[in-house]
Parts: sequence; C-alpha cells; structure tokens
Amino acid sequence: MKRARLALLISGRGSNMAAILAAAGPDYPAEPVLVLSNRADAAGLGSAAARGVPTAVVESRAFKADRAGFEAAMEAELAKHGVEIIALAGFMRVLTADFVRRWEGRLINVHPSLLPAFPGLDTHARALAAGVRLHGCTVHLVTAGVDEGPIIAQAAVPVLPNDTEASLAARVLAEEHKLYPAALSWLAAGRVRLEAGRAVITAAEYAPDSLLNPLPRAALLSTQ
Ligand code: GAR
Repeated sequence: MKRARLALLISGRGSNMAAILAAAGPDYPAEPVLVLSNRADAAGLGSAAARGVPTAVVESRAFKADRAGFEAAMEAELAKHGVEIIALAGFMRVLTADFVRRWEGRLINVHPSLLPAFPGLDTHARALAAGVRLHGCTVHLVTAGVDEGPIIAQAAVPVLPNDTEASLAARVLAEEHKLYPAALSWLAAGRVRLEAGRAVITAAEYAPDSLLNPLPRAALLSTQ
C-alpha cells in the first residue's frame, strides 16, 4: 500500500496530533512525515519528536501581517518533506485562499463543534450559553471560509446539566481523538469524494460508536 505523506500542523498541545500519530501504524494509509508548528513553544512538538517524527517551526509572529511570506516559508518545509496531505490539528492561524486552493482536497481540519453551528473560537462556552443539548466535533475538508468546507464526519456528545466549559471540552476532545484518525484515513485512502459540494465516503468501515442516533452506518456516513 502506498501511504500518503502527511504533515500535521499544530499551534499548541497537539493531542489530536498525538492521536493520529498513535493510529498511524504501518497499515494506516497516511505516513506522518512532518509536524509543523507556527509556535516554537507548542507542547506538541516535544511529543512528536519523542515519537521520532521530524518537526519544524515557522514562527507566524516573525511574519507579522505578511501572510504570504509565512505561507511561503511553510510551503518550503512541506516541499522539503515531500508532503502530499495536510491535517490541521489545533492550528490556530487562518490560511489564505491561495494556500487553501493549492491544497484543495488534501487539507483537512478538526473543529470542536457540530458545524455549521459554532464556527470560530470558544465553541464550548458558546454551546453552553446557547443551551444546546447536543454538541460535538466535526472533521471537514478545508475551504477558503473559516470552519466551512465539506463535512467528512461528526461525533455528537450530550450536554449535561452541570457541565462546565472544561467538562464539556473534555467530553468532545475524547471524541475528536477517535473521529479524526478515522476520517483522515478515509481521505488518505482516496475514499472521500465530492458530490454537489458534499463529501461522500466510499466503503467506510468505521462508524463512531458514540454517535447518539443509532442510525444505520450508511445513513450516518452517506456511504455508497
Ligand atoms: C481541538 O479541540 C481542536 O478541535 C481545536 O483546537 C483544539 C486543539 O487541541 N481546533 C479548533 O478550534 C480549530 N478551529 P489539541 O492541540 O490538543 O489537538
């Protein structure tokens, strides 16, 4: 099996990155070849290095408003490592439309809400403030709009009466760690295709067991 050369882009803790690295054994369709951070103090850099994955830092601060320059420096790192597919894993910089276009169909993100609800920041606090009963996470292809783009997979969790932002975040994060490696593997294996702007998964073998509605897998995943 040819494995897609994968870069993970992080800005901080890197727990989603770690979940993907843990899943990416020899049979996983993506091979992590680079962990790239826009911050030198990202904790995830240490855990990537401890797993023997090459790391690089392109400090976004050094580029100030020069987003094209920042992205050109990132592209140089990506090219150096022969990267074919990018997973954003808590990468907290908005990418330009040019960058997104260059990586169209090969750029994926995890977001801590059931998109299109709660794009942007502070999703758990906003979910609590809105009084929603269900919250969760979304893995999606990245398009030029922030936290938009075709949805590949979602997992839902209940919002409980005594939840705090921290307790809700922890419940969602546990789902991110299962959902993201699975959804990324479908993309890397060429199982994600677009139909009328929506992502359709071919022959998915995985359905998140935490989804609250026990619908048939085909219904959950638009499997065909
Ligand atoms: C995750 O919850 C991820 O969904 C979120 O940042 C956190 C990073 O945690 N991403 C976004 O909000 C992107 N819009 P991690 O560094 O431990 O993976």
